[in-house]
Amino acid sequence: MATVTLDTISKGYGRKHVLQDFSLEIRDGECFTLLGPSGCGKSVVLRMLAGFENPDDGAISIGGRQVSGRGVRSIPPEERSIGVVFQEYAVWPHMTVFENVAYPLKMQKCLQSELERRTRSVLDLVGMAALETRLPSQLSGGQQQRVALARALVSKPLVMLLDEPISNLDANLREEMRFEIRELQKETGVTILYVTHDQEVALAIADRIGVMDDRGTLRQVGTPREIYDDPVDSFVFRFMGIANFLPAVRTGRGVCLEGCDPPLESRLCDGFDTASENGPVMAGFRPFEVDMRRSGSGIQALVKRVALLGAMVDYRLEVGGSEIRIQQDTALALRSGGIYREGDHCCLVFEKLRWFDRETVESERDRQ
Ligand SMILES: Nc1ncnc2c1ncn2[C@@H]1O[C@H](COP(=O)(O)OP(=O)(O)OP(=O)(O)O)[C@@H](O)[C@H]1O
Ligand SMILES: [Mg+2]
Repeated sequence: MATVTLDTISKGYGRKHVLQDFSLEIRDGECFTLLGPSGCGKSVVLRMLAGFENPDDGAISIGGRQVSGRGVRSIPPEERSIGVVFQEYAVWPHMTVFENVAYPLKMQKCLQSELERRTRSVLDLVGMAALETRLPSQLSGGQQQRVALARALVSKPLVMLLDEPISNLDANLREEMRFEIRELQKETGVTILYVTHDQEVALAIADRIGVMDDRGTLRQVGTPREIYDDPVDSFVFRFMGIANFLPAVRTGRGVCLEGCDPPLESRLCDGFDTASENGPVMAGFRPFEVDMRRSGSGIQALVKRVALLGAMVDYRLEVGGSEIRIQQDTALALRSGGIYREGDHCCLVFEKLRWFDRETVESERDRQ
């Protein structure tokens, strides 16, 4: 069993607390991404799991065995059954591809025949078998990262710890590597912890995602769909993609977006927290969760800016004193009455709204 458990971990440097009471459980064989803004403590979590640093408090277990923290001697990195790949290409420039990948086995004094067999097998797995005699300087960035992955896999670790391993690559290669990491995991069954600040990577690669805020607090753990579609709070909602907010109030006639008429249809007020019935709230929605219509009974809006981004049209609209962003499928827009122009009026029909505490949304906005 290669579950990974962080139990009420605290970690700080000098007077700075990076993590406090941080708990997380990664399941056997899953690909878990830890996602959060720069500086929130993701790499610190990973370094503690790898054994390069120790927690100040709490306990860490890998595969059911406590490896550091509370009352145990810290187990050194090479005895933790982990493979690690960092953002910087950690391949040795003076060694060939084969020698780089074989290195951990050589350190373990593996038999030569076994070393050759296992090295060739992982090189095959990452598609680098044909380049085994090359030096890293003769490889592309993506190929170097494949070598680093192969080297991390060669000792058959229970857990792979990946720290932004593909963020230095260009967009096409990143996409390809995302796919390859997934495939690798399916083939080997290894448990993966992948840390990144890139939402798109996390959504594409993860079985589950943990979202951290800038204070090192884990806000939500869930599947990509849960995190994206059912965020527990406005921080997660905002962090996962373009987020629109419109202030709303509940009146005798129902819930009204501030400065707008008419009240929202009742089906859209689902989830409106009755405890905050008379308090101000924020309605949150994504750019493609709204239908723009030429006329009808929706909320009035004015088109301020239009940008045609190929497959998609991106609009900035003014609604009751707020600005929002809406995105429409270009082909669909062309088929249904054409693309709106700046200065056009339209009616908005919301497909989905989420409700957030207004004060929190405003204070988060001020902090950005
Ligand atoms: N050795 C250290 N000494 C002092 N402070 C440190 C040390 N390592 C990390 N920190 C601090 O801990 C915080 C978390 O750092 P960490 O590297 O984990 O961020 P991160 O989430 O990985 O960010 P990024 O996405 O930019 O890689 C930062 O404020 C950082 O300055
Ligand atoms: Mg980092």
